[in-house]
Amino acid sequence: MRRVGIAGIGVAIPEKCLTNEDLAKFMDTSDEWIRSRTGIRERRLAEPHEATSDYAIRAARQAMERAGVEAEEIDLIIVATVTGDMPFPSTACLVQDAIGAKRAGAFDLQAACPGWIYGMTVAEGMIASGRFNCILVIGAEMLSKLVSWADRSTAVLFGDGAGAAILKPVQEGGIQATLVGADGSGGCNLYVPAGGSRRPTTAETVAEGAHFVKMNGQEVFKFAVRVMNEATGEILAKAGWTADQIDLLVPHQANGRIIDAAVKRLGLPAERVVVNVDRYANTSSASIPIALWEAQEAGRLKPGDKVVCVSFGAGLVWGALALEWTC
Ligand code: UT7
Repeated sequence: MRRVGIAGIGVAIPEKCLTNEDLAKFMDTSDEWIRSRTGIRERRLAEPHEATSDYAIRAARQAMERAGVEAEEIDLIIVATVTGDMPFPSTACLVQDAIGAKRAGAFDLQAACPGWIYGMTVAEGMIASGRFNCILVIGAEMLSKLVSWADRSTAVLFGDGAGAAILKPVQEGGIQATLVGADGSGGCNLYVPAGGSRRPTTAETVAEGAHFVKMNGQEVFKFAVRVMNEATGEILAKAGWTADQIDLLVPHQANGRIIDAAVKRLGLPAERVVVNVDRYANTSSASIPIALWEAQEAGRLKPGDKVVCVSFGAGLVWGALALEWTC
């Protein structure tokens, strides 16, 4: 089996910034409530005319440039998203056309917030097997279009953005272990009731607001704290690493309190943990690639560093990656 590593990473983040104070002007909430419950101070939001592929394409172009990869070299494009431009065609096909990846296959992958980790897991296996050489894995979301701005229990939590990685065979380092898991029995704790085949969109579902995200925050919180600990322990065991060997922990950026609980258990110092939930809120599948990109920009990642990424989300699902940084 071949080793597989990240050759380049890119992001696209909206310019418009909505602070907690801005939200409090039109919603019954406060900066104090949001910060103390979640650690979020502000989030970036796309414009009404923009769609998820606009950001996926920009993130993809930057990742390709940084990896020194031309569009024709790409064999496969995976876009992890729950907020694609439309039910079909896939957002991955829109990206494929825009970047001119004429040789590439393209599909969307739906695994909510850990979607990018799921995509990396699939891509790693395909390259390791020798069947594919160059895969573009994107996490891109526009949750601002899937929440009700009249529902303070969900609207304050999310932000928009995209992150992308080019995966290729590497001589050393790269992905050491992957982990994906699911417990569909908890699906009812975080879901969108209508707009699919169970309850197609009708005037009634729209009037009910059944096309917006519904969440049992406390149940998701409990699940998240448990699964972040378990998945981190499991990925460390798979990679044959101990917690104190982690150079950088990149947890899903959903809630500062969930991150704190995971970090405390591992006993890691703050400088070895990436936290940007305060500035972007929860960007779902884009959260981890954006955090990796920022860490690299800030000089917090160098080739050979041991990195652990861990995430959870709607499904309920979870995923983790252990990789030695390669770009
Ligand atoms: O990628 C997965 C995404 N989901 C998550 O990660 C969610 C995980 N869960 C959480 O992060 C937390 O459960 C929340 C941040 C969502 C909520 O925090 P909580 O401490 O569990 O609050 P709660 O749901 O128990 O609500 C407490 C109170 C309620 O009022 P009452 O019933 O006690 O009077 C809510 O109505 O806070 C109220 N509330 C708000 N108040 C001000 C809910 N949302 C808001 C808000 N501003 N935005």
